[in-house]
Amino acid sequence: MPGRGVLISFEGGEGSGKSTQAARLLDHLTKQGIDAILTREPGGTPLGDWVRRLLLARPDVASAPEEGNPTLPATALTPVEEFLLFSAARASLVSKVIRPALEQGRVVLVDRYYHSSYAYQSAGGLEIAWMCEVTERVVGDCVPDLVILLDLPAEQGFARNRGENGTETPDRFEMRGLAFHQRVREAYLQLASAEPERIRVVDAGAESGAVFSEVESIVGMLLATRGMQPERK
Ligand code: TYD
Repeated sequence: MPGRGVLISFEGGEGSGKSTQAARLLDHLTKQGIDAILTREPGGTPLGDWVRRLLLARPDVASAPEEGNPTLPATALTPVEEFLLFSAARASLVSKVIRPALEQGRVVLVDRYYHSSYAYQSAGGLEIAWMCEVTERVVGDCVPDLVILLDLPAEQGFARNRGENGTETPDRFEMRGLAFHQRVREAYLQLASAEPERIRVVDAGAESGAVFSEVESIVGMLLATRGMQPERK
């Protein structure tokens, strides 16, 4: 891990509430006087944003052109292609955002990181061992100190997403069926059981405030071990 910073990633399936919890944690840490940033994958850099548009576009519908961006063709992608595109975006995020911030001693929160590839692209059929080899080259020593896995049965995540985004067009991954998202969840849980110290499973089915209390307590313990405990009031 470069510098004195702390890297925390948020992971989970669709509708697990991870973006909400990550934003809430950023706000909480900032109020405690801790120098923290929040970024996300894919995104956070110009290349990452471009990959995001390509990868999240529906494979069967060409996207409308945006200002300064060409129309994206409708593109079906294999899991290898998906993984390498996510990895390109990840390499850019690591070198331009994550590593510099860690070197400055900041707390870096990232909404999805390489465990998303391990879960989603393995649910698509790709070998995790191969992804690990590539990822070691992509992220180097920027390995998360802590992974918060917001765990929820796939059916519940789907139901939440339908409630929230009822009228929105589903993206490439949301379009995949329940069985795919059940495999994603299983893959996440297997990753967590292989690395229980680093990957902490939080029940995302609980009420949002209760979920945040657990997140806050896990993160608080980690920061205390780094001498970064928030000031007590
Ligand atoms: P996003 O809109 O960020 O979804 P969410 O709100 O669920 O985080 O879309 C990211 C999608 O990309 C999500 O379905 C998971 C998928 N993904 C992968 O398949 N592999 C990856 O490595 C990453 C980072 C994301």
